[in-house]
Amino acid sequence: MKVLVVGSGGREHALVWKIAQSPVISAILAAPGSAAISELATCHDIPVSDLDGLVELARAEAVDLVVIGPENPLCDGLADQLRQAGINTFGPSKLASRLEASKAFAKDFYARHNVPSARYGTFSNAGEAKAFLDQFEPPYVLKADGLAAGKGVVIVSDRGEAETEIDAFLSGKFGEASKTLVIEEFMAGEEVSIFALCDGETVLYCGAAQDHKRVGEGDTGPNTGGMGAYSPAPIAKPELIETAMKTIIEPVANGLAAEGSPFQGVLFAGLMVTPEGPKVVEFNIRFGDPECQVLMMRIEDDILPYLEATATGGLAGMPPLRWTAEPAITVVMAANGYPEAYEKGSVIGGVDDANKMEGVVVFEAGTARNADGERTANGGRVLNVTASGETLHYAVDRAYAAIDEIDWPEGFCRRDIAWRALKTH
Ligand code: AMP
Ligand code: GLY
Repeated sequence: MKVLVVGSGGREHALVWKIAQSPVISAILAAPGSAAISELATCHDIPVSDLDGLVELARAEAVDLVVIGPENPLCDGLADQLRQAGINTFGPSKLASRLEASKAFAKDFYARHNVPSARYGTFSNAGEAKAFLDQFEPPYVLKADGLAAGKGVVIVSDRGEAETEIDAFLSGKFGEASKTLVIEEFMAGEEVSIFALCDGETVLYCGAAQDHKRVGEGDTGPNTGGMGAYSPAPIAKPELIETAMKTIIEPVANGLAAEGSPFQGVLFAGLMVTPEGPKVVEFNIRFGDPECQVLMMRIEDDILPYLEATATGGLAGMPPLRWTAEPAITVVMAANGYPEAYEKGSVIGGVDDANKMEGVVVFEAGTARNADGERTANGGRVLNVTASGETLHYAVDRAYAAIDEIDWPEGFCRRDIAWRALKTH
């Protein structure tokens, strides 16, 4: 099989790494890919925003399957264009992608299909938004309607601050994405992410993980795209997974199909485990980054038949995915300054040594190579140091031992990834 992977980050590096292990793979292409991905795939320098260019590449290369990593090309309609060209595609249509592209759409959709989620209102008028705060106790949860790279949610305890934020959102704090905002009830509980493949009709459980969104240790500081993740998530016991599949993921998949926009790809449910059961915080329409990195470490089966079945409507005939018992963790190394301004171009040493350690794989989220062939930083989140081990403790120790091999003074990581799981379970 010849497969094209769209994207260039750590998630796509992990997907390419896993697909490369398939006995039925004949060639992997990536667009645009990265220096690290080019060690496993042929990269084509086409940005994810060039939908026509990507379709043309898939057609010219006669690929059997396209796997789309990031949300932006999905929300722009890349999967629709590929399917119109007769190409099997892992990734949902533009209509189905509204589940992530618009929080207002998503919240109305959950309400229509009785999917448990927080009480909410949608506003583009500041006065109405401020008045709506009366209905809630603090803390107040404000969300940009549109895509904001994981940063479009603000939670504040102070009413005055909430009102200032409402003005900031509506005057374009997150550009067009926050010209409409959603205000919702604060849900207390522990968060967990559950993944499920969906071929338009059938859903198949595809793992659970927890991540750390805040930049600072102890889950402090501003939100990021994610500073680390681990799987399995100790809170995701079989009963919780079953409840989430029945009350949340299946109704979402069925609801999208019933509304004429069947979902083909991976549903990523961000859930809050509350005393009344799991409730939706948000849905994403693609693998999590960096959650994908730990899932790929733990899936025992060849992933390719599952990706293909998702794209072609064949999941009903597939057995459940098998998982290694070994937990996996990924720690993000980011450039100093992230998630605010940071510099590119610093040299990173020691990654090859880290990769040689048992149970360790360093996925590269934002690296390049300089004229001397050295690894350099080329993004905010730069490395995903991923490790598995007999227990979560071993996996954590291995990941941090690998980080200690890496020589990169211009980068940092959180030293407490998986603290909650280590402490309470
Ligand atoms: P989202 O981008 O919607 O996943 O929100 C980012 C983060 O904000 C989530 O991972 C939660 O930690 C937090 N969050 C969002 N909505 C709520 C809510 N209604 N109650 C409590 N925390 C929330
Ligand atoms: N790590 C969270 C996300 O991919 O949205």
